[in-house]
Amino acid sequence: MGKTMIELNNISKSYQITKNNSLKVLKGIDLNINRSEIAAIVGKSGAGKSTLLHIIGTLDKPDTGSMTFEESDIFAMNDKQIASFRAKDVGFIFQFHHLLPEFTALENVQIAARIAGSTDEDKAKELLAEVGLGDRMHHKPSELSGGEAQRVAIARALVNSPAIVLADEPTGNLDSENADAVIDLIFTLRKKFGQTFVIVTHNEEFAAKCDRIIKMTDGMITG
Ligand SMILES: Nc1ncnc2c1ncn2[C@@H]1O[C@H](COP(=O)(O)OP(=O)(O)OP(=O)(O)O)[C@@H](O)[C@H]1O
Ligand SMILES: [Mg+2]
Repeated sequence: MGKTMIELNNISKSYQITKNNSLKVLKGIDLNINRSEIAAIVGKSGAGKSTLLHIIGTLDKPDTGSMTFEESDIFAMNDKQIASFRAKDVGFIFQFHHLLPEFTALENVQIAARIAGSTDEDKAKELLAEVGLGDRMHHKPSELSGGEAQRVAIARALVNSPAIVLADEPTGNLDSENADAVIDLIFTLRKKFGQTFVIVTHNEEFAAKCDRIIKMTDGMITG
């Protein structure tokens, strides 16, 4: 297997604003994501960063272009196969943790595993211990700090051993101390599991630490 895990070719995406007016948000993106790399996507608000991340995660489909994962043409697959790729091979981390409020930290991580068909109950515990929350597993989201809740969300993103974790401003809602803890954790998880991450961030210090900075301007990659 080669080094490249995901390859995007000529991806474009427009949104229909009115009947006669559409907004071109991605304008022919070519991008390779390598196995075990931590790549940062940076750029101004409205540049198309989240849209690109959603397409890589198949939360959205491009208008043109293709994406291959381990040499499979993802958008040529049927919806069921695409959903299976999303559930098994992609983990998501967002700015807000989006944990289910009625469930404990452990249950939140286990639910994600069960949805993907896993019966391994211990994996969730191991990951919560790994993110430093071994003694907070039975707390509900309202009983966790913001940084702790985000670390639960990271454990949830990793529970199905996804090929790639996509993070959209994962430190955007955290103070600098908690942001630093999340950043350190991401690097630890890469070291330990060889985990691949693509991370949209406005945090310049974080971006500078990543293996590669992908700069987006007005729907294009410009650096
Ligand atoms: N569903 C939609 N319908 C119409 N326009 C959209 C839609 N989603 C995004 N856009 C527009 O597409 C452009 C790119 O949005 P996107 O969310 O990808 O930007 P971003 O780079 O992530 O910005 P930010 O840093 O503010 O999160 C923006 O101008 C936005 O208004
Ligand atoms: Mg965004």
